[in-house]
Amino acid sequence: MKKKFLDLGLQPLANSFLTTRKKKEFKYNLSICFDTKTFLVSLIKSVNPKKQYTEFYAHRASESKTAREAFKNVAFNLQKRFNPKLSMEIGSNDGVFIRNFKKNKIISVEPCLNLAKITKKLGFTTYPDFWDMKISKKISKKHGKLDLIYSANTISHIPDLDETFLATNNILSEKGVLVIEDPSLLEVIKNNTYDQFYDEHVYVFSAIAISKITEKHNLELFDINYSSVHGGSMRYFICKKGAFYKKTLRLKKQIKEEYRKKMDKLSTYLKFASRVKKSKYDLIKLLKKLKKQKKKIISYGATYKSTTIFNYCKLGRYIDYVVDTTKNKQGKFTPGQHLKIIKPELGFNDSVDYAYLGAWNFKDEIVKKEKNFIKRGGKFITHTPKVKII
Ligand code: TMP
Repeated sequence: MKKKFLDLGLQPLANSFLTTRKKKEFKYNLSICFDTKTFLVSLIKSVNPKKQYTEFYAHRASESKTAREAFKNVAFNLQKRFNPKLSMEIGSNDGVFIRNFKKNKIISVEPCLNLAKITKKLGFTTYPDFWDMKISKKISKKHGKLDLIYSANTISHIPDLDETFLATNNILSEKGVLVIEDPSLLEVIKNNTYDQFYDEHVYVFSAIAISKITEKHNLELFDINYSSVHGGSMRYFICKKGAFYKKTLRLKKQIKEEYRKKMDKLSTYLKFASRVKKSKYDLIKLLKKLKKQKKKIISYGATYKSTTIFNYCKLGRYIDYVVDTTKNKQGKFTPGQHLKIIKPELGFNDSVDYAYLGAWNFKDEIVKKEKNFIKRGGKFITHTPKVKII
C-alpha cells in the first residue's frame, strides 16, 4: 500500500531552463510515497516522459571530470569482470560511458534526440527510443541477446518498472548481467539530500526494493557497489534467476544495514520528512541573516537537484544568480525561480561572498578548482547533511 510521506510543493520540470523569464511554465505537485509492500519510494504522480526527454534535454553527463573518470573506471571494470561479447547502455546521454567501449561492442538507447545525435556522430549504433518491450524486441531481433546491459541514472526515471524489467529480461543472455546505477535511498535518508526527488527521479531505490522487484521478474540481485558521483549512488548487479552468480558478502551487508536502518518501515520516511522541513527552515534562516548583512549570495551549479530546493524553499529571494559551466544552460533562467545562469568566468568574481553548492555532489572537485575564492574569504553553503557554511 502506497503511503504519502513528503510534499515538496508545486514544482517546474527540473530540466526546463527558460530562454525568457516570461514563459509560462508547466508545474506539477512533487509528493513522495512509500509502498509498504514493495518498499519502493516513488513520486505519487509522475510526469509524462515525452514532456521530459525531448530534443532540448540539457544535462550532459560528460560535463564533470569526476563523472568522466568514474564512468571510464566502471566501463573498464565491467568489461574485465564479465568479458561481454555485446553490451548495451539504456540512456546513454552524451556517451560518457560507451566512449570507453569499441564501437562494435556496444549499442545505445537514448530517447533525447539531441543526445542520440551525439553518440551516433561518434560512430556508435544508437537507437533514439524510450526503453520498452517494443525496442527490446527490435534490438534483440537485429543483434541477438546481450551479455551486459548497463544503465546509469535512467531506470529510476522510467515510471513503468514492470515493463522495464520485462524488456530487459527479454534481451539478456542466459548468463548476461544487468547493471543499474541510481541514487541510493539510504544515502538520501542519511544525508538529508531531499533534492534527489524531482520529476525525473520517479523512484529512489533501496537495495531491499531492487531485490523485491527483480525477484518478481525472475531476476536476481547478486552484487552491489557504491559510487559517489551523484552524491551517493548504488550500482546493482542483476542476473537471471539461477544464472550461477553467487550473492556477495557486500550485498548481504547492505541489505542487513537497510533493515537495521528500518528502510522497510513507513516511520523512517515520516521522520525523514520532518528533517526535510527543518532543513528548509534552517536554510532560509541562514540566507536571510546573510542578506541582512548585505552579503552577495550566488549558487554554484544549475543542477536538476537544485530545482527542488530552489522552489521548495523559494530561494529566488536570496540568490542573485547561478553559475554553471554547461554551455547550453548559460544565458538561460532556472526553472520556477527564474534566476539567470551565467558562466563562472563571468559570475564567480570578487563580488561574491557566498556560493550555495547546487552541485554539492561535486564538492571536492569544485572546492579544489575554486581555491582562490576560498583564499580571499569566499564561503560555500550547503544543506547536506545539515545546513551549514563550509
Ligand atoms: P549534475 O549533478 O546533475 O551532474 O549537475 C552538475 C552541474 O554542475 C552541471 O550543470 C555542471 C555544473 N558544474 C559546474 O558548473 N562546475 C563544476 O565545476 C562542476 C563539477 C559542475
